[in-house]
Amino acid sequence: MNSRLSGLQPYPFQRLAELTRGIMPAADKPAIRLSIGEPQHAAPHIVLEEIGAQLATLSSYPTTLGLPALRGAIAAWAGRRYRLERMPLDPQRHILPVSGSREALFSIVQATIDPAERIRPVVILPNPFYQIYEGAILLAGAEPYFLNTVAESGYRMDFDAVPAGIWKRTRMVFVCSPGNPTGAVMEHAEYVRLIELAHLHDFLIVSDECYSEIYFDELQPPPGVLQVAHDLGVTDYRHCLAFQSLSKRSNLPGLRSGFVAGDGTVMERYLEYRTYHGCSLSSLAQAASICAWNDEEHVRANRELYRVKFDAVLPILAPVLDVAAPQAGFYLWPRTPRDDAVFARELYERENVSVLPGSYLSRTAAGVNPGHNRVRVALVAPLEQCVAAAHRIRHHVQSTCPTEITQ
Ligand SMILES: Cc1ncc(COP(=O)(O)O)c(C=O)c1O
Repeated sequence: MNSRLSGLQPYPFQRLAELTRGIMPAADKPAIRLSIGEPQHAAPHIVLEEIGAQLATLSSYPTTLGLPALRGAIAAWAGRRYRLERMPLDPQRHILPVSGSREALFSIVQATIDPAERIRPVVILPNPFYQIYEGAILLAGAEPYFLNTVAESGYRMDFDAVPAGIWKRTRMVFVCSPGNPTGAVMEHAEYVRLIELAHLHDFLIVSDECYSEIYFDELQPPPGVLQVAHDLGVTDYRHCLAFQSLSKRSNLPGLRSGFVAGDGTVMERYLEYRTYHGCSLSSLAQAASICAWNDEEHVRANRELYRVKFDAVLPILAPVLDVAAPQAGFYLWPRTPRDDAVFARELYERENVSVLPGSYLSRTAAGVNPGHNRVRVALVAPLEQCVAAAHRIRHHVQSTCPTEITQ
């Protein structure tokens, strides 16, 4: 077996299953699962209809490069979304459809990190983080370098805190905006700084933007790395890759459809890698994806559903927990009155509500574990369930930690 496999950490949901094994939650309360970030709003009917109409395409092999019409739809979407007027994405050179962003976030590391380097390459990532980043880094033989994102600094990655010796070895930087689990949105200026650093130190920016379409002010969509590279006039989107997905935007996590776009030279080699990797989308999924990228109506309606949920849930929780509305995305990241795993286990036992302990999403770096005493609450369930869960969480805090109550 690959000896690097032994360096992998158990996946957060495995740890959660372990944490709650053998517990019989309160039988009088129906289960509410807010632990996994799996959208539960309805998939757009136009996409489902398209899937029905495309069944015959299952008789042929799809190509890794994907249908020109899909790459065209993606280029048009990104062009509209990020106003890439002066330097439109070339569908032939800058875009690859992928089977959900997860496999792409993993495979880009395998494709671009060179294990033959004399000195071990470094990949910088946020902490807490989406665990695929870490697994991909370790399996590629690179060294992860965690940058803590904490409330005190607005959950920003402090690139200025990275020592010069680390920059020298850095080949890639992961960013996640809007962040999972913090909901923090990278500002235009932060991307500018990161792109400058990428040019200075010659590393690849892997910008995970899969929550970018879930935001609260219709006039202020989160910026993306391609938009900023465009604004800076970065030729060929050098050093920049954006990772997108239909899972959260269009409530289609089962379709396994997303895309990678950016640096033309990297994309050329990545296509070569993917030919062997073999994760091409079925033609059916590609046709459905065209339909989804071409439609914004369902995306706006989806945002509204999340807005209503945050508006309903926050006033219930805020009096008893240190919790804030995220800048974007569908997670709450409250501080817990005591150890996050204990809190999550007892909440499950007494209230039959599942949330994810924050420390399952983070590591200790520079003496700090930014997930300690936090839980991730995914507002993915229907409104009534989210509201019921919020009342149960509140009740749990009030009955177990009365000193936390402020009202
Ligand atoms: C931060 C982040 N990136 C990427 C993904 C992968 O999403 P998908 O593979 O469905 O596109 C997820 C899924 O939850 C995520 O939270």
